[in-house]
Amino acid sequence: MKKGLIAFSILLLTASCAEKTIPNVSEVELPTVELKSGKAIYTKKCHRCHKLKTIDSYSAEQWDNILPDMAHKSRLSDSDEALVKAYIAWELVN
Ligand code: HEC
Repeated sequence: MKKGLIAFSILLLTASCAEKTIPNVSEVELPTVELKSGKAIYTKKCHRCHKLKTIDSYSAEQWDNILPDMAHKSRLSDSDEALVKAYIAWELVN
């Protein structure tokens, strides 16, 4: 019983730490593997030059202009860019 409680506290601690390392990104469980990959690429590649941008701060139209440029800057492959694009589109409607 006590062991379970300790394990649970550790789990909570790790969860709150993980949240701090990725700001501006929703903590919602993503529905598909593609979205998870897109988020992983976004959180890994998109804060090299600036802090991670808040996705909701830009409209879908703005992202259409911004993303190709940023994907190029990040040297993303076409398939990685498509995954990030899908992830951003999902964040905008969720
Ligand atoms: C090689 C450096 C570099 C990388 C990598 C990079 N960016 Fe940027 N980004 C910039 C610069 C420079 C600006 C303009 C200054 C600023 O807004 O911080 C910018 C601006 C932005 C803006 C604001 C655009 C505007 O018009 O207000 C967004 C949104 C953005 N980046 C998203 C991303 C995303 C998403 C990625 C990953 C695919 C990414 N960036 C990767 C350099 C980079």
